[in-house]
Amino acid sequence: MSANYAVVLAAGQGTRMKSKLYKVLHPVCGKSMVEHVVGQIEKLNLQQIVTVIGYGGKQVKEVLRQRTEFAVQEEQLGTGHAVLQAEPLLGEKQGTTLIICGDTPLFTAETLTELFDYHQQQRAVATILTAIAPDPTGYGRIIRDRQGNVAKIVEQKDTTPAEAAVAEINTGVYCFDNQALFQALHQVTNDNAQHEYYLTDVIEICQKAAQKVAAFTMKDFNESMGVNDRVALSKATALMRQRINEKHMRNGVTLIDPQNTYIDSEVKIGADTVVEPGVVLKGTTIIGENCLIGAHSQLSDSLISDNVTITASVLENAQMATGSNIGPYSHLRPQAKIDERVHIGNFVEVKKAEIGADTKVGHLTYVGDATLGRQINVGCGCVFVNYDGINKHHTTVGDYSFIGSASNMVAPLRIADHAYVAAGSTITNDVAAHDMAIARGRQVNKAGYYDRYPVAKAAQQTEQAEKNSK
Ligand code: UD1
Ligand code: CA
Repeated sequence: MSANYAVVLAAGQGTRMKSKLYKVLHPVCGKSMVEHVVGQIEKLNLQQIVTVIGYGGKQVKEVLRQRTEFAVQEEQLGTGHAVLQAEPLLGEKQGTTLIICGDTPLFTAETLTELFDYHQQQRAVATILTAIAPDPTGYGRIIRDRQGNVAKIVEQKDTTPAEAAVAEINTGVYCFDNQALFQALHQVTNDNAQHEYYLTDVIEICQKAAQKVAAFTMKDFNESMGVNDRVALSKATALMRQRINEKHMRNGVTLIDPQNTYIDSEVKIGADTVVEPGVVLKGTTIIGENCLIGAHSQLSDSLISDNVTITASVLENAQMATGSNIGPYSHLRPQAKIDERVHIGNFVEVKKAEIGADTKVGHLTYVGDATLGRQINVGCGCVFVNYDGINKHHTTVGDYSFIGSASNMVAPLRIADHAYVAAGSTITNDVAAHDMAIARGRQVNKAGYYDRYPVAKAAQQTEQAEKNSK
């Protein structure tokens, strides 16, 4: 039985990126380029996937883990040499091998399936996936003979002016008869401008050995884009973003301004949710149905249920349950867990804290390392004082309690259900159920003291001036 395999080329250093980060690990919409590639070829149900790694390969392995096998290319001597490193894993096998680069993040499983089908139909030994480029600069050119058959691929640096003018380019994706591929690779030399062992030379070798070489021209050049520098990275990201945004809109999500909405590739959004301009949704964020994600909100790795309203707020690794709302200008930090129908107003920061159903934290408050029960009202300007300079401590507030404005809850602290904290208190001792705690200096009124202050004189002059002007 004939089987299918894939080799992903990911050993190149990517010098043109001018980066400490290994090229194929650069993210496009929140996911590394090589993960995009592997994610698509996984849909093809192949027998084996081998990723060729080199310098920086340890990090690539950490990202891909068990998803592929790995072959190490110690020295980056070219794409042909790279494929040869997979020989111990694949060389003996019968079947078809797909070769794809780790720096072409936009290829879809649909296009790759079309390539496999075309390769089988043509009974070819080698089939190149080609595209017509508006500007072919930098790509290998497909050189055809008078009959229109592919004769060879010429790399940019080795082109004659006539060859450079050819618009049909090598996308870097191929299907090969596996055994013919490895036989041909042993004949490739590095006699070229870059002194590299080019995979592309295999085409001419097959052709000269009277083996059938076919070419399948894909419709959309954009999908084949190779990322060699940051300019191309931004273009690939824009194309990927458009693809992601269109998918969400087709699934029933309203994006008010898709050009200015930034959604990572793994994000999920329920139908009838509206996403306003300037929103950034990152990582593993999941949003339910019928939510409103207001302009300029940023959500990372957060879990949002249905009917949630977020207004100009920042959420990181946080959760909001059904019917809750937040903002404007609030911040949920890691492990903030907001229950159903909770109201978080403006300028509130919540970190590692659970806020029970129907509780309200309306204004200018910090809740850190705390567990708040249900139906609590936290007044304006409260601080859950959690840090003694060395350790973090926890505060608990029970159901139906009331925390007056401008209070400090100094942890460790337990405030029971149905307890009342008077405004302006600094609470350092536990409060029992149905008790009221008040912890502030008593007020003293000094008769006539106003007139001793310079402000009194200024006020007098203003009052007089007002009278005179009438
Ligand atoms: C390559 C093709 C070119 C094609 C283009 C499509 C060759 C010689 N050229 O050029 O015809 O138009 O892709 O995007 O194949 N790599 C290794 N080991 C190496 C060298 C490269 O693993 O020794 C990997 C890189 O990590 C990269 C891929 O192979 O993922 C392509 O290498 P790159 O240097 O980007 O080739 P291009 O110049 O883009
Ligand atoms: Ca490339």
